[in-house]
Amino acid sequence: MIEVKQLYKSFEDKDVLKDINVTFENGKTNLIIGQSGSGKTVLMKCIVGLLAPDKGELLYDTRNFLTMSKKEKKHLRREMGMIFQSAALFDSMSVLENVMFPLSMFSNGTLRDRQRRALSCLERVNLIEAKDKFPGEISGGMQKRVAIARSIVLQPQYLFCDEPNSGLDPKTSLVIDELIQDITREYNMTTIINTHDMNSVMGIGEKIIFIFDGHKEWEGTKDDIFTSPNNRLNNFVFASDLFRKVKEAEVQNIEG
Ligand SMILES: Nc1ncnc2c1ncn2[C@@H]1O[C@H](COP(=O)(O)OP(=O)(O)OP(=O)(O)O)[C@@H](O)[C@H]1O
Ligand SMILES: [Mg+2]
Repeated sequence: MIEVKQLYKSFEDKDVLKDINVTFENGKTNLIIGQSGSGKTVLMKCIVGLLAPDKGELLYDTRNFLTMSKKEKKHLRREMGMIFQSAALFDSMSVLENVMFPLSMFSNGTLRDRQRRALSCLERVNLIEAKDKFPGEISGGMQKRVAIARSIVLQPQYLFCDEPNSGLDPKTSLVIDELIQDITREYNMTTIINTHDMNSVMGIGEKIIFIFDGHKEWEGTKDDIFTSPNNRLNNFVFASDLFRKVKEAEVQNIEG
């Protein structure tokens, strides 16, 4: 569980995050949604420590991230897995070497142990057959799966994904979403996903927070979205005709 309390962040004279209060639960896919520029990436960067917030509290299962020592921070970082917008793989390393990389950096296992662990993660994302290929030789969806395998190789307790579906077609996005949800449940991780993909919201939105202009405008589940009277949320989520129709059908269903 990650708790964010009264978090503020500004750049020069621009207040980007204003009084963010939210709890991200473990075993769940927690989604941060909001339009471009609303502050999703800045919030995620504050949570993982890539940016320093101006004010607020960040609790990782009661451990206070902002007041802990450098050594404690380093320790906690090893419990975090991250997947960025671009898969960010090392082009000159094979798929297997990419997945082994965090183990080479942070574990003292033998080469055989590290290979075994990396292979089991590649198996988990269904990519064993691509282990000797290079990133340039596989599709974008496969690269994302390699990135997922690499992010879980150290068995993280916390997983952060910033727009994991960017650049993927809807069907491949679904595969990635379901994979992230499955591993989140399997390892009981606290997973936070930044997205503006409505398919993801409807598919894996177990807990959703909607950021509007740097403040938390709304929170709930994907089912709550259908009945929420919040105009800003509705304008954002039901901007597309398709989802407006889905909502109308759903409301009719509820009303019998
Ligand atoms: N390092 C920085 N210095 C100054 N301003 C920044 C910095 N990083 C982000 N911002 C500003 O903070 C605001 C929020 O940006 P952020 O990247 O968090 O948006 P986002 O919700 O992730 O958008 P997108 O959906 O496009 O990824 C933007 O106005 C952006 O210009
Ligand atoms: Mg962003």
